[in-house]
Amino acid sequence: MKIAIVGTGYVGLVSGVCLASLGHQVTCVDKDFTKIKNLRNGVIPIYEPGLSELLKKVENNINFTDNLGDALIGCKAIFIAVGTPQDEDGSADLKYVIQCAEEIVEKSKDDKVIITKSTVPVHTGEKIKKITDSRKDIKFYIASNPEFLREGCAIFDFINPDRIVIGSNDDYSKDILLEIYSSFSIEKIVTTDIATAELIKYASNSFLATKISFINEMADLCEKTGASIKNLSYAIGLDSRIGNKFLNAGPGFGGSCFPKDIMAIVNMSKKYDCKLSLIESVIDSNKIRQEKMSKKIVAILDNQLSNKNITFLGLAFKGNTDDTRYSPSISIIKKIARNNCIIKVNDFQALENAKKDLAEFNNIRYHQDPYEACTDSDLIVIATEWNEYSKLDYSIIFSKARDKKILDLRNILDGEKIQKIGFKYFAIGKKND
Ligand code: UGA
Repeated sequence: MKIAIVGTGYVGLVSGVCLASLGHQVTCVDKDFTKIKNLRNGVIPIYEPGLSELLKKVENNINFTDNLGDALIGCKAIFIAVGTPQDEDGSADLKYVIQCAEEIVEKSKDDKVIITKSTVPVHTGEKIKKITDSRKDIKFYIASNPEFLREGCAIFDFINPDRIVIGSNDDYSKDILLEIYSSFSIEKIVTTDIATAELIKYASNSFLATKISFINEMADLCEKTGASIKNLSYAIGLDSRIGNKFLNAGPGFGGSCFPKDIMAIVNMSKKYDCKLSLIESVIDSNKIRQEKMSKKIVAILDNQLSNKNITFLGLAFKGNTDDTRYSPSISIIKKIARNNCIIKVNDFQALENAKKDLAEFNNIRYHQDPYEACTDSDLIVIATEWNEYSKLDYSIIFSKARDKKILDLRNILDGEKIQKIGFKYFAIGKKND
C-alpha cells in the first residue's frame, strides 16, 4: 500500500523504515530539508541499532521529501508521527499534530485515512475530525495506532510486537489498518475505538513506570533491612501475575516517553475531574530518586567532594541509545558537578548529546575510552546499563583508579568478583558491608 508518514523523528523514521520492510511503498515527510537530504543519502540522524542497515535493504520501497503535497498523491493512509512535547503545565502540546492535520486536509486531493502514531491525549482524534470537516469534497477517516517501540531495540519490537492497537470508529479505516498490518498474526491485533487506543498508550507507559518506581522503593527497603533486591526482584517476577520484566532497580526512569507521558496523563485526567493519585506518587517517587542517588555518591565520598575525581560510566537514559533526554545520569551529574570536583564521563553513543546538556559546566571531562575515564578516579559510578560496562577488565581499572570504589546504579556487575579485585563495591538495593 502507498503510505505517507509525517515526522522523521524517532517514531516516524523507525515506523517508516519498518513499514517499508513489510512491502509497503512509504514516503517519509519532514520540514527539515537537511534531514531529508541526509536520509536520501542513507544518513540517519539517530542511533538505533540495525536501522541504517534496514534502510539500505528497503531503499526501493521508501523515499524522503519535504513536500507534503507530493507525498499525499495516491496514498491511502497517512500517519502523523510528529512530536507532542511537554507543555509548561505538563500536558501534551498538540500544536505540531494540529498543524500537520491542517496541512494534510488543505493539501489532499483524494480520500485518506489519517492515523495518529504520536502519543496524543484522549479525544485528539475528535479534534482532527473537526479539522477534516472543513473539506466537503473529500472524505477523511480518522484512526489511532499508537506505537510501543523501545529505543535501542525498536526494530525487534516492530517485527515482534506484543500487540498492535488499532483504534477506529468506522470500518473503512479499521480495514485499511488491518491491511497495513496483514503480515502479523491476527491474535496480535487489538481493535478498539479511537479514544481507547489513545488511552492504551498512556496506560501502558504509566503502568511500566509504576513498576519501576515500585521496585526502586523496594530497593530502598532492601538497603535498610539487609535484604537483596536482586533476589527479591527475581522471586516476585516468577509469579506470572507480576512478570519478570521492568523489575530492575536503578537510578529512576528517564527518556523521552515515561516522564512526559505520566505528567500528561495526570494533567489530562484533571480535566476530566479524575484524580490519578497513584501515578502522581510515581512522579514524586521518580523525582526524589535522583536526589537520593546523588546523596549516595556524596556519602560514599565521606561528604568530601572537593578535589575529587568522579567518573560516570554512561550518560544515556538507558543502554543502546544516544538519547540523553531526562537521563538520570545527566540529572545526577548536574547535582554533583556544582561542587569543586572533576567529573570524568564516558558513553558509547551519548557523549555529543551530553556535551550539549552539560554545557554550563567547565569541570566535566569527556572520554571516548572508559578506561581513561576511570584513570585517577576516586569513585566510579555506573549510571547506564550498557552491556559493555559489565565486560570491562576491572583489574585494569583497579590499577588506574585513585581510590578503589565503584557505585553500580544499574546492578550490572558481579559484586563478588569486583570485591575480590579489591574494589569497595556499592550497589542498589543491597546493604553495604
Ligand atoms: C518506553 C516504552 O517501553 C515503549 O513501549 C514505548 O513505545 C516508548 O516508551 C514510547 O512511549 O515511545 P523507552 O522510553 O525507549 O520505551 O525506554 P524503556 O526501555 O521503556 O526504559 C525507560 C526507562 O526506564 C529507562 O530510563 C530505563 O533505564 C528504565 N528502566 C527500565 C528501569 O530503570 N528498570 C527497568 O527494569 C526497566
